[in-house]
Amino acid sequence: MPQIDRSPGVVLVTGGCGFIGSNFVRMLLSDEFSSQIRSVIVLDKLTYAGNLENLTDCLDDPRFSFVHGDIADAECVQNILQSSPVEALFHFAAESHVDRSILDSTPFVQTNITGTQVLLDEARRAQTPLYVQVSTDEVYGSLGPEGLFSEQTPLAPNSPYAASKAAADLLVRSYCHTFDFPGIITRCSNNYGPYQFPEKLIPLMIANACEDRELPVYGDGKQVRDWIHVLDHCRGIWLAATRGETGEVYNFGGRTELENLSLVRRLLSLLNKPESLIRFVKDRPGHDRRYAIDCSKAERELGWFPQIPFEQGLQETVDWYLQHEEWINRIRSGDYRDYYDQQYRNRS
Ligand code: NAD
Ligand code: DAU
Repeated sequence: MPQIDRSPGVVLVTGGCGFIGSNFVRMLLSDEFSSQIRSVIVLDKLTYAGNLENLTDCLDDPRFSFVHGDIADAECVQNILQSSPVEALFHFAAESHVDRSILDSTPFVQTNITGTQVLLDEARRAQTPLYVQVSTDEVYGSLGPEGLFSEQTPLAPNSPYAASKAAADLLVRSYCHTFDFPGIITRCSNNYGPYQFPEKLIPLMIANACEDRELPVYGDGKQVRDWIHVLDHCRGIWLAATRGETGEVYNFGGRTELENLSLVRRLLSLLNKPESLIRFVKDRPGHDRRYAIDCSKAERELGWFPQIPFEQGLQETVDWYLQHEEWINRIRSGDYRDYYDQQYRNRS
């Protein structure tokens, strides 16, 4: 396949204050990208999951700017795209937590579907040369014990979160098809690494274990997830943007399938905490059994490979959370406490 070589220098990152978005922004502002990146604009609503503190070390970089706003606010998006010569729009902003989508799907539909539609329309209007939709393997549904999700796997989302992401992907697909819109979709498996909000499995279990609190494992704990380090995902998104073809989908995964229970046991061992902290609780309704990704297209066509071995990445992640206790405590002392009570009350 002929390799396309785009090199956007002015980029708009939606959701840049969240987990993956902030790691992506930090990567673009690192020395490795210094000859290329001239401006990184972050648009973020700062929901419960968005935290400017995730970008503290980027705030003084003259190439960095921040807009506090909603992707579903057309005027706000239009202002940014009209006032800056954005060469690539990376769309990370989303409501991202499956359990919250089961409690209330309203913000998922509003942000993940309507927000995406607004971005697509405004990017079209501004003739933004490249749009990257950061999506998820959850759009493919659930696997049995065998097989992998490929880009050809039919969409079969099972949770309201996954359905809202699939709807957004289909909007992007339709804009590419109908308007020759320059969109690329990436779909990745479960990310882990620094700055992940502690409602998600790994940081939640680390934070609970550190406080000698119970670790709530849903159902029998034998659900399988494919773990990838967030920086391997960020590199993949960049390669999809710079070497990928518009109108295409690229899957990313870590080739690290693990049962939840086995992952929780590893975390306890790294933290030197007893397995007696594990508590089996009521299962997540509609819980997807297994995710696993075939990322051979990205390997073949983008020259991408996951580079961070899981053992090393997990140890570094545990160390990061241990060194950032205040970051976790500040988050866990706010609205998150109400969510935690609502989610885990009456589950045992
Ligand atoms: P996150 O919840 O940590 O961050 C989401 C960010 O989006 C936050 O900063 C939040 O303030 C912002 N945001 C939410 N609604 C907004 C709105 N209406 N307008 C502007 N900003 C808004 O999420 P994450 O885990 O970093 O995921 C980022 C993207 O990657 C999502 O699209 C998610 O679906 C996708 N993804 C995540 C994973 C994963 O394992 N976490 C895997 C594959 C794909
Ligand atoms: O696969 C990609 C997806 O991975 C992303 O699209 C989502 O944004 C991201 O949140 C993640 O979804 P999951 O539902 O897989 O992640 P979560 O960390 O919520 O849960 C991982 C597994 O752990 C899942 O099988 C549910 C289980 N779990 C989770 C929590 C929070 C527990 O057993 N106990 C828990 O307390």
